[in-house]
Amino acid sequence: MIRPGSLIGLDIGTSGARAVAIDLLGNVVASASASYPLSVPRPGWTEQDPQQWWSASQDVLKRVVSRLPHPPLALGLTGQMHGSVFLDEGDRVIRPALLWSDQRTENECRTITEKVGAARLIEITGNPAITGFQAPKVLWLREQEPASYARVHHLLLPKDYIRLCLTGEYATDASDASGTLLLDLNRRAWSGEIMSALEIPPSWLPAVHEGPDVAGHITPTAAAATGLPIGLAVAAGAGDNAAAAVGNGIVREGLVSSSIGTSGVVFADSATPRIDPRGRLHAFCHAVPGRYHLMGVTLSAGGSLRWWGEATGGQDYEVMASLAAKAPAGSEGLLFLPYLTGERTPHLDPRARGAFVGLNLRHTQAHLTRAVMEGVVYSLKDSLDLMEQLGVPITEIRATGGGSQSRLWRQMQADVFGRPVHRVDNEEGPAFGAALLAGVAGGVYADVFEACSVVRMHLDMEAPDPERQRLYQGYHAAYVDAYRAMAPLMHRLADLSAS
Ligand code: XUL
Repeated sequence: MIRPGSLIGLDIGTSGARAVAIDLLGNVVASASASYPLSVPRPGWTEQDPQQWWSASQDVLKRVVSRLPHPPLALGLTGQMHGSVFLDEGDRVIRPALLWSDQRTENECRTITEKVGAARLIEITGNPAITGFQAPKVLWLREQEPASYARVHHLLLPKDYIRLCLTGEYATDASDASGTLLLDLNRRAWSGEIMSALEIPPSWLPAVHEGPDVAGHITPTAAAATGLPIGLAVAAGAGDNAAAAVGNGIVREGLVSSSIGTSGVVFADSATPRIDPRGRLHAFCHAVPGRYHLMGVTLSAGGSLRWWGEATGGQDYEVMASLAAKAPAGSEGLLFLPYLTGERTPHLDPRARGAFVGLNLRHTQAHLTRAVMEGVVYSLKDSLDLMEQLGVPITEIRATGGGSQSRLWRQMQADVFGRPVHRVDNEEGPAFGAALLAGVAGGVYADVFEACSVVRMHLDMEAPDPERQRLYQGYHAAYVDAYRAMAPLMHRLADLSAS
């Protein structure tokens, strides 16, 4: 007998908010999405108005709640990581939030590295200073908009601003907090050393909880605005990648997901913090209490294919995938470097740029399209290779994200990774994982492992073809060398186009 009841996950994504309600066996019973704009005030700058997240959240929650036969048992929050919401004394938003994809803070990253020391920063937080992370944005505000900075009383991540609207609590979870550059990764608590080095007042920061902990209850005002019951428990939740990983069952060592959305993410569970001394992989807390994860990010994955589709007259993904299938593996000597918005893993280089390398007269649009898809997979392979170098066991790779719907892209991953690639039956992404965390907060599941027992795998599995695997080894090695050879030129062009 299925116990009646539902759990809701709310995702504050970059393109919109999405609420998903599931029953206790993990079946989706209702979902709703609402989009909001992304503002690009200057090249490389990305901002959003937190009030628009809140309007969209009210909208999607109302729509989902109205379709449920019983009141929900708990709500879980997730969202884009790293964004900075600056609030004044009265919790008013001071200026638009700077987002994870914002690249304006190169100077501030240098300052942080100097003030804390490169090695010490990685030792404490697990990560180097990266332009998209939260702390450099605080320094940017201090330098560039001192009048706004003088008004700051609270600093929140995107989903945690929505928590404040829903519950009145200033709280976050350990996975999202790891993306601020202010968290002590081993202690899963704010680092006094870093905050004093950067002169960021500890009073600005929210309380840190584990993902499935209760961190707030719905207030009467929020209940009226959303239709949620007064007093409903709100789970701390997780950053979108950790939440998606819970939704994909990546909660045991050996399990790795490879996701192709706008960005590409290779995500591995780890029982202990495993830190790359050069900081090329992100080392973050997981949404599973006490556990960690490693993550490699390709900034333009599906984004590269979307760009290519637009650049060639508005082709959609399906048309491009069938075109790409007409070209042979390796695209007859053609490489694509997907660094259209700079790159995180493994280069940590905001001034990296994209390239086609190896063009010859035989190449058709099919070859170029295939090369774009292959280039994205070579980049994901860079992340997997770094994980293996750090001793992360890899027993199963699960393909997720919009790109996993393409059989060709899954097969390319199997061939380039040299391992079978499985597909997860989860189209709902982070919101689904947040709903599972809500299930633990609401007492439905004993822990995150039990919650993940409702995750279902597709029967689809692509195995590597030995011949293509061998061929791709050579191409991947050439891809690695291509960045090394071309980086100075990429930087020169980036500087020329910026001046
Ligand atoms: C992770 C990251 C992105 C955002 C996107 O480090 O920057 O995946 O979380 O939503």
